[in-house]
Amino acid sequence: MTEGALQDHVVVITGAGSGLGAAFAHRLAADGAHVVVNDVDGEAADLVANEVDGEAAPFDVTDSAAFDAAVDTVVGRHGRLDVVVNNAGIAPPFDRDRFDRTIANEMLRMEGRIDEMQPVDQLVDLTDDEWHQMLRVHLDGTFFGTRAALRHMQPRRSGVIVNISSVLGLRPSPGAPHYSAAKAAIIALTKSAAQEVAHLGIRINAVCPGWVDTPLLSDFEDDARAIITSRVPIGRMARAEELAELVRFLAGPESSYSTGDVYPASGGYV
Ligand SMILES: NC(=O)c1ccc[n+]([C@@H]2O[C@H](COP(=O)([O-])OP(=O)(O)OC[C@H]3O[C@@H](n4cnc5c(N)ncnc54)[C@H](O)[C@@H]3O)[C@@H](O)[C@H]2O)c1
Repeated sequence: MTEGALQDHVVVITGAGSGLGAAFAHRLAADGAHVVVNDVDGEAADLVANEVDGEAAPFDVTDSAAFDAAVDTVVGRHGRLDVVVNNAGIAPPFDRDRFDRTIANEMLRMEGRIDEMQPVDQLVDLTDDEWHQMLRVHLDGTFFGTRAALRHMQPRRSGVIVNISSVLGLRPSPGAPHYSAAKAAIIALTKSAAQEVAHLGIRINAVCPGWVDTPLLSDFEDDARAIITSRVPIGRMARAEELAELVRFLAGPESSYSTGDVYPASGGYV
């Protein structure tokens, strides 16, 4: 760890009013970065911005005009943009019935009773709106953030973008087809964009967290959490601070040879 390696760097983190994004804000600020804390929840953004002595930029990442305007404002105010972390995200709500059916099916499969397994109906019940909203927040939001950042980073021939994908983008799970598809698409976007701008001194990487104990999973009941952790070889969920160390590495000079690369931190799940 390099103390103060991000001194005076201007960093924008989306969805930083909670969970992972807030941990990233604290970690990068600890090394001297000035953090612009985005969230669609303005109060949450204000709170974290105060904690890290940064500034709040409340907007919805699905609104490309708002994203462009916010990034233009940051660059107008500070004269630079060094790091963007595209982190804002949502998760499908926990569904007790479907979860129970999934577990029952697993038991039946283990017993070889395949014919008795029942449809889980996650995909066939997914509405157009649910599908589009998941892709809008994750994929559109990451694209809008990457585009807005590159417009400023390219002329300076410097900058770092970190896109938050998921282990489900690498190893999709049944029950979250739209989330898995969006997170896999973020990996493809990261690799394509990174190749386009590598010669300009701009690095773009993706992080794939495993299950992290954040408010995103707050409606998961205890038995569901236990089953999730039983599938993670390390035997527990991650703490947001553990992922923040990885994002700090990718945001700083220590990762100078990393671009278009994908970094899981999965506790052995992937
Ligand atoms: N928690 C996990 O287990 C886990 C695992 C893998 C990947 N991730 C990813 O990490 C990222 C952060 O998740 P988290 O666990 O910290 O969740 P979280 O719910 O604690 O935080 C997400 C934040 O994003 C904000 N947000 C949501 N939609 C937004 C929008 N349209 N515009 C701006 N802000 C918006 C929310 O208000 C919230 O503050 C997400 O992309 C998530 O998919 C999380």
